Amino acid sequence: MSLIKSSRKPSVLVCISCREGGEALADATQSAAIGTPEIAIQRVRCLGNCSRGLSAALRCEDTWTYVFGGLDATRDGPALIAGASLLAADKNGLLPWRDRPEALKKGLIARVPPLQFTENCT
Ligand code: FES
Repeated sequence: MSLIKSSRKPSVLVCISCREGGEALADATQSAAIGTPEIAIQRVRCLGNCSRGLSAALRCEDTWTYVFGGLDATRDGPALIAGASLLAADKNGLLPWRDRPEALKKGLIARVPPLQFTENCT
């Protein structure tokens, strides 16, 4: 059973320009997404994270966006799909730390708030 809220369509953006495996990571992520057609896999050319290994990002329209590096093409496709499902299911639009796959803990580079986000920091 999918945890994804029906209103959310998560996207996994995988950099295919990263050397040593960007295409392979995209292929592995696409394979891991079989059975979850609500998750879109987008191949992109550079996420601006080039010095930090294989890179990908997770987002939904109304959630935070998460950028990861140091991913492994042979191992982390399923982690990206699991992360996309967790993000889409979270009521606050955040990627929960506790259940997050290990690769998405140690590989976190940045998180970016959703477009309509406001926060009172005073
Ligand atoms: S080439 Fe992959 S992040 Fe730049």
